Order: sequence, then structure tokens, then C-alpha cells
Amino acid sequence: MDHATVVVSGTKIADEIGTSRSEVWRLIQQLRSLGVEVEGHPATGYQLRAVPDLLLPDVLAPLVRGTIFRDIHHYYKIGSTNSAAMEAAAAGAPEGSVFLAEEQTSGRGRGGNAWHSARSTGIYCSVVLRPNLPPSEALILSLATGLAVHAAIQEIDSRVSPDLKWPNDLLLDGKKFCGILTEMNAEATRVRHIVVGIGINVNQARFPEDLRDLATSLRLTSGTEWSRVEVAAALLKSLHREYRDLVEKPNARDSVLRRFAEHSSYARKRQVRIEENGGFEGVTEGLDARGFLKVRTSQGLRTVLSGTVRGL
Ligand code: BTN
Repeated sequence: MDHATVVVSGTKIADEIGTSRSEVWRLIQQLRSLGVEVEGHPATGYQLRAVPDLLLPDVLAPLVRGTIFRDIHHYYKIGSTNSAAMEAAAAGAPEGSVFLAEEQTSGRGRGGNAWHSARSTGIYCSVVLRPNLPPSEALILSLATGLAVHAAIQEIDSRVSPDLKWPNDLLLDGKKFCGILTEMNAEATRVRHIVVGIGINVNQARFPEDLRDLATSLRLTSGTEWSRVEVAAALLKSLHREYRDLVEKPNARDSVLRRFAEHSSYARKRQVRIEENGGFEGVTEGLDARGFLKVRTSQGLRTVLSGTVRGL
């Protein structure tokens, strides 16, 4: 945004980049379609008004220096960053590769659901990890990712305190603003690679009718716009810390379980309905050592291995 108030003629831009004025006009149209606010036209000159909050590697990389997230890929439009990351991982992409998109046309959620991925309002991010862990530890990693999102949001605005809903939804005012989809390629005892996909509703001002009662965004709950770059950088830094602890520290898994319960109103003493295999109801009794949710039902204690938890 240096010299943002300067008006530069089309002729001057054309001379400087060695092209014609009509080509400059075409390029300006292209920038406008990407959300860059440029005022003016070829006769008067152009004035840069605002550069959009794009999740560009050149912007993010310096902010996450020192983390494993060194290899950042950015797409204006993609089917799903999780699919891109899974394909890249299978083809040998290094641990810490990040796939970010401004818009997803087939964003995927847990249980075959779609993830609403409107352009440049949310964060659609997938990271490739190659932990030396058995596949059974993937749930802990997924819970840790929820904690990383929680920490990132609190770091930016400590007044915003998300609630975690098992396994890894993040809620504000009882509505979901973040979902996590963890996918992996594994042998029976060894993970080959894991892709953790994180969708965060940041600056959505409204949602489609069918999501209105269920979804919210950071902007809708806080009343102000958030910098997606700031949120994405804070997220990658806190995810780096959680991941490093999990693979390096022997007691990290207990810490994840403890902190998850601390930040989740759903983990204990909550009347819930579990939507899985016909569904059942009960009261939550914390997480077991592997990270599964325990629910006390009229027939005894049940362990929830998958499915959706609904508060009653
Ligand atoms: C859920 O709550 O159901 C999980 C949603 C995960 C959405 C993210 S957006 C980035 C990544 N790419 C996808 O297609 N899905 C995940």
C-alpha cells in the first residue's frame, strides 16, 4: 500500500512495464476481479484504494518464519484444499506444506458434508503432516488442532472465547465458525501422511438460508472485520507449537485432553444427542485416554467413536 493515494496515468504504467495502455486497462480489470480496489480509468489515471486481505505466500511466509510451514501454496479458486494437499502428499510433498484457497468449489466437511467456502471471506487451509505416530493418534492431533485455532483466536482478541465441541468444531454463541477435517494415508501401525484441513468463517456477513441458524463468523459475533492474514498466521504458529509438542513431548497427549476439556462446555455434564447408528442420548463424562467422548446413557457408559454431537 505504499503511495496508495497517488494517481498514476495509464501511459506511465504502460511505459514502466513495457506494454500498451489497453493492456494496462485489461490488467486493471483483472486486479479488480480479484478484489483489488482501483479507482479511475485510462483517461485520468489509476489510483490504488485498497489491497484485499489475500492469503498470499509472500505475505504469510515472513509471518510464520521459524515454523514447519515453509512451503505455502495459494489458489484463488480450487475444488478442495484437502484434496490438493492429499494429492500433493501422496506425490511426496514435504511435511509442513500448506494449501490455502480464497474460494473452494467443493469444500468438504466431516461425514461427507459440504463446507461453505465463499470467496475471500473465510480461511480454507490444509496442511501436510508426516508424524511418526500410529494411526490411532490421529484423533489427538485433530483435537490439538482445535486447541490451536482456539489459541490463535484468543491471541488476536482475548474477549473472543470459542467453545470446543467434540471432536473438533469451534463455536461462538452456540453456532459453528470453524470445522476441522483430518484425513490420512496410513498402514495399520504407521501413518504415511496426515492432512489437517481447517475452515474458519472469518468475515462472512451472512450465510445461506440453510446455514443461518447453525453457522456464524468471527465478524458476525465480534461486530468487526478481522484480518484473514493475521488469523491464518496466528493459526499456523499455534498449530506448529501443538504439533511439535505432540511429536516431541511424552506428556503432550494428556495436556491436549486436559486443555480440550477446559475449553469445551460439551466435554462434561452436558446433555447431548449423538447422531450415529440411529442415535442415542446421554450426559457427557469427559474424554478417554485416546480422545474419544464418553457418554453416560440409561444403558450404561458408551464411547463415541465418530458421529455428530448435538447439545440438548
Ligand atoms: C467439518 O466441520 O465438517 C470440517 C470442515 C473442514 C473444512 C475445511 S476448509 C479447508 C479444507 N478443505 C476442505 O475441503 N475441507 C477443509
